[in-house]
Amino acid sequence: MENMNEEQLLELARKFSFQSRMDKNTITGPIFVRGRGSTVEDINGKQYLDFNSGQMCGALGHNHPKIIQAIQESCETLIHSHMSMFNDREIILASRLADIAPPGLNKSMFLTSGSDSNEAAMLIAKRYTGGYEVASPIVSFHGLSDATRAVTFSGWHESYGPYAPGNYPILAPYEYRCSFCQDKGGCDYTCLNTSFDLLDAQADRPMAGIITEPLFSAGGVIDPPDGWLKELQSKCHDRGMLLILDEAQTGLAKLGDMWGAEHHGVIPDIFTISKHFGGGIAISAVITTEDIESRVSEGGFVLGHSHSNDPLPCNAAIASIDIILEQGLVDVAKRIGSYWRNHLETLRSRYEIIGDIRGRGLLQGIELVKDRNSKEPNHDSGREIARMCLENGLIFSSRRGGSVFRFVPPFTTTEDQLDRAAEILDQAFATVG
Ligand SMILES: Cc1ncc(COP(=O)(O)O)c(C=O)c1O
Repeated sequence: MENMNEEQLLELARKFSFQSRMDKNTITGPIFVRGRGSTVEDINGKQYLDFNSGQMCGALGHNHPKIIQAIQESCETLIHSHMSMFNDREIILASRLADIAPPGLNKSMFLTSGSDSNEAAMLIAKRYTGGYEVASPIVSFHGLSDATRAVTFSGWHESYGPYAPGNYPILAPYEYRCSFCQDKGGCDYTCLNTSFDLLDAQADRPMAGIITEPLFSAGGVIDPPDGWLKELQSKCHDRGMLLILDEAQTGLAKLGDMWGAEHHGVIPDIFTISKHFGGGIAISAVITTEDIESRVSEGGFVLGHSHSNDPLPCNAAIASIDIILEQGLVDVAKRIGSYWRNHLETLRSRYEIIGDIRGRGLLQGIELVKDRNSKEPNHDSGREIARMCLENGLIFSSRRGGSVFRFVPPFTTTEDQLDRAAEILDQAFATVG
């Protein structure tokens, strides 16, 4: 079994691997075997720049030495622990998280995936408000468990139902393609007003809340216009609903602020984190206020899974907070982000098919169009360019059917690596046209 080559492994995958991948249902290489910092290597020894940070969970850099050390410490002390009794790592992690969380949010619960943290957040909102309904923008992605898929509207939603009742889509603040504000020179919240008219007409009020990303990642790197998130929060609070922010892809320094919502001056009622929180180890968290935590706990709220508060992932998350603070990753994200933005702007000045550039810090994207006036999405060129880039050693993900490229370079990415990635893109754009 050891020392198998790529073809032998793919043959095994064809026989034994369940094909349930989100964006890929073919059994082809590359097959990755190691990684360090911003690069990964496949079984044939070929190196790639990983501008997807693994599945965004490796944003601190693959196999960060401090994460390795934290894992080793737990291997020598305690890997797994009783779910209903405390261990020291989870308590220390909760207190470290309270230090960096937005003001007033200081109660944490730990789970394993982004999906289960969002499920927990929605359950908390339901218990707190007494409502059962939740809405989310149509470009949202909150996970593929049953409850989170029900409020994931950017794809992967259809044909898995029926879902539990009470999940509604609202319009998205997708300014580049918004039919309400195209001619108005900016968002005037018609999308939100219309959405809330519909929710008010339909809901068994009070609704539990709205769940949203502060910047929509899987939906196409869509950054809400200034004021949108604040307006959303105020509409929620007017109706006794909670605002849940899913900071899986936007939190922990990634956008050049500690939290994605900081840019919009919004402090949510509940927020969730996952992805690079464990530096590559699976761990997520739900964080809320003392008032919400005490009210739902006193009401007998119970939630936990066998691995919820395991010391090993908690210790990795403590190390990841150390890395973020000690290495000043908020500023690193700003620096890498603005360097990369210059490259994207240069590409746009050269290639007419780049219609829009969006995002901040380590989460930026470009949208490809057939021409800049019609803005018709250019899926075919997108797919071809992405294929060529992968062949030439650059990994990123394609969204919206291939017309949006999402770039998530790790915090470890150097200017040379950013230059190299831009060269690979430039070559592919020049070839495809
Ligand atoms: C914003 C957001 N929330 C939740 C999730 C789901 O996380 P997980 O795949 O860990 O369940 C993702 C995954 O990509 C995500 O991007």
